[in-house]
Amino acid sequence: MNTDILIVGSGIAGLSLALKVADHYHVTILTKKEAIESNTRYAQGGIASVMARKDNFDTHIKDTIRAGSNLNDAKAVENVVCAGPTLINELLNIGVRFSRFTKSEFDLGKEGGHSKRRVLHAKDLTGFEIVQNLLIHVKKHANITLLENHAAIDLICNRHLKKRRKNNLCYGAYVLNKLSGKIVAIKARATVLATGGAGKTYLYTSNPDIASGDGIAMAHRAGCQIANLEFVQFHPTCLHHPKAKSFLISEAMRGEGGKLELVTGKRFMSAYHKNAELAPRDIVARAIDLELKKRGDEYVTLNMTHHSRDFLKKRFPNIYQTCRSFNYDIAKKPIPVVPAAHYFCGGVKVDYQGRTNIANLYAIGEVSCTGVHGANRLASNSLLEGLAYANFAYTDIIKRKDLEKNKNLVVRSWDSGRATNSDEAVVISQNWDEVRRLMWNYVGIARSNKRLYRAQTRINILKEEIKEYYWNFILTPDLLELRNICCVADLTIKSALKRKESIGLHYNIDYPQQCKKSSQFNIIPKA
Ligand code: FAD
Ligand code: SIN
Repeated sequence: MNTDILIVGSGIAGLSLALKVADHYHVTILTKKEAIESNTRYAQGGIASVMARKDNFDTHIKDTIRAGSNLNDAKAVENVVCAGPTLINELLNIGVRFSRFTKSEFDLGKEGGHSKRRVLHAKDLTGFEIVQNLLIHVKKHANITLLENHAAIDLICNRHLKKRRKNNLCYGAYVLNKLSGKIVAIKARATVLATGGAGKTYLYTSNPDIASGDGIAMAHRAGCQIANLEFVQFHPTCLHHPKAKSFLISEAMRGEGGKLELVTGKRFMSAYHKNAELAPRDIVARAIDLELKKRGDEYVTLNMTHHSRDFLKKRFPNIYQTCRSFNYDIAKKPIPVVPAAHYFCGGVKVDYQGRTNIANLYAIGEVSCTGVHGANRLASNSLLEGLAYANFAYTDIIKRKDLEKNKNLVVRSWDSGRATNSDEAVVISQNWDEVRRLMWNYVGIARSNKRLYRAQTRINILKEEIKEYYWNFILTPDLLELRNICCVADLTIKSALKRKESIGLHYNIDYPQQCKKSSQFNIIPKA
């Protein structure tokens, strides 16, 4: 198959880029499941942008850099923050409806680390509202082919060409049609990874199943630089219930006065930060982790009972209903919550246009490391970054005169060797579980050298087992994802071992202090 621009992923980053670039090029979007399924779909709190008269770019920039422990790339932050209002207007123009007090006044939310109310939201279903509207337009566009249930396996680079070229370029991707089991090569003039994050690397995560770090793993195998994977953000408040699969309880609740309490009912956050419940997320998650370990409790609680049932139902309908379905009445009782892996601040290292170090390969959205988040992402800056980098990549792509047509390029077909059907699916589920459990236990909120080395030893064994299995059996979606979470886990452990200090989301008890000169980009060399 041939296309001009191949976009892997149908979250906010992939869809918004597709809509723009399709006015100039033919676009193919690949997505692993149905198109709506993405991290974006589940975003609750909202999207940060300077919209209020009392707010300004400088304050948003300062808040972002303060939350990121000063490790942010200041120019990248400025680019994203200043693009905000225009990009929000574009969303409004395609039909996205954010909550408002009046026709001319948005109901702006507040979250940890923000000094102003600046979070646009659609009640607590912001991501769904955005992705739904983007998809309506994508599906109508004659120049976009949307391939659901198609999972990218690997990027096509020089080594996949019949006749090798001098420089390493990206020419598209090998793709598994999950319904037919067939693997095809899709050639493209430019390829864009918009595959989102890797929360599934951890046993407990707010992320849906698609978040298996495929883009990071593919990019690493192709020779891209991967940066800052040690900065894994744990969301402080996910619902504590054996069946709730770490359902997120939005930080916007704390913005509306929610109090964190121990099971005894005692508040504790003011002992950790002057902003108490509205401290940056790394501080809140670490404080909860510490309190739980100190007391042996299973959860802390978030108390919203100061609000009326009517307010809670209207402002947080999704959270209200979901808690109700687990027999929690949030208007009457505090909500039991625990932290869970939420967001990867690191990823594929890109420049200000979203270009990776491999020509014709871009990475945008959560899969990338732009420098915007530094050592800890400010709440609700991720949707904004995804939109902004889609726009920066679009501007770059349409300016380029050097995108080859690739028509005569001969790509090797996918080689399955002597692979047969596996009769041991249990090996895959066992390894999945092992990777995720060891990441949770050894590479979690608080780390130590001993635990990191233990994790490394174990992941090396798993890597070998998975490698052998991968080439002997016919590729299935589960096997593909297992290989990828193992790769991301390995890179996260390597990154954590390389950063010999505690800063932002990376806290190592053996190096409790920050270095004099912390490196802004902790890069894992190419594979
Ligand atoms: P995603 O939206 O995750 O989309 C990735 C896409 O790539 C999916 O379509 C997936 O199927 C596809 N994909 C992945 N691998 C492959 C493959 N191999 N082949 C084909 N397709 C593939 N951020 C905020 O700013 N504000 C919030 O309020 C907020 N709330 C959140 C709440 C929850 C519960 C979660 C989980 C995250 C939240 N975040 C929030 C973070 C934010 O939602 C994500 O960082 C952001 O949506 C990522 O967008 P994206 O386009 O990069 O990727
Ligand atoms: C939330 O609603 O708490 C999530 C916000 C975010 O991750 O930015």
